[in-house]
Amino acid sequence: MRPMPNLIRALFVLVLMAASVVLGTACRAAPPEPYAPGLGEMMSLQQMRHAKLWFAGQAENWELAAYEIDELGEGFDDVVKFHPTHKESPVAPKDAIPRMIAGPLKDLRAAVDRKDARAFVQAYDGLTAACNNCHDATNFRFNRVQTPTGNPYANQLFILPH
Ligand code: HEC
Repeated sequence: MRPMPNLIRALFVLVLMAASVVLGTACRAAPPEPYAPGLGEMMSLQQMRHAKLWFAGQAENWELAAYEIDELGEGFDDVVKFHPTHKESPVAPKDAIPRMIAGPLKDLRAAVDRKDARAFVQAYDGLTAACNNCHDATNFRFNRVQTPTGNPYANQLFILPH
């Protein structure tokens, strides 16, 4: 290869330096915003837990039921933390959740602690009603939930083998 003329070599070095400055700035640009799932995404998880809780209660798998109640509680804590208010909603999730959900979750815990299948069904209805009441209050009344009519989680054992 013929040696590069000095001018071309100097230009080449300059271009490389400029590119590294541009790239370096891009990398140091504002750090990406931490990811927080949208309220709809969080609700989809709550929907899953609400369904699994039902099948756990029907199977009288009280450990799993207690676990799903805890998960629901944590999910609602996340809603309060990441979506204290929501769009044009006249009722803020941070106010609605302690007011509407804490009671039903407590009743469910009590039923599960007593391993009381009848009280469980009653408390479960209370939770479902609270979910729907909050959808009404936040102007999402078209999102209605109910006691599951079939189990979508065919890959999970609700009745454990002995
Ligand atoms: C703070 C009041 C509130 C409570 C309590 C609440 N929700 Fe919601 N839910 C909402 C709002 C607001 C939306 C619409 C979110 C959006 O903008 O995507 C929603 C959306 C949903 C959706 C639709 C999600 C989708 O993308 O398809 C489901 C399903 C749902 N909720 C289930 C539940 C269940 C189950 C419970 C009770 C265990 C519950 N929600 C309790 C306020 C609430």
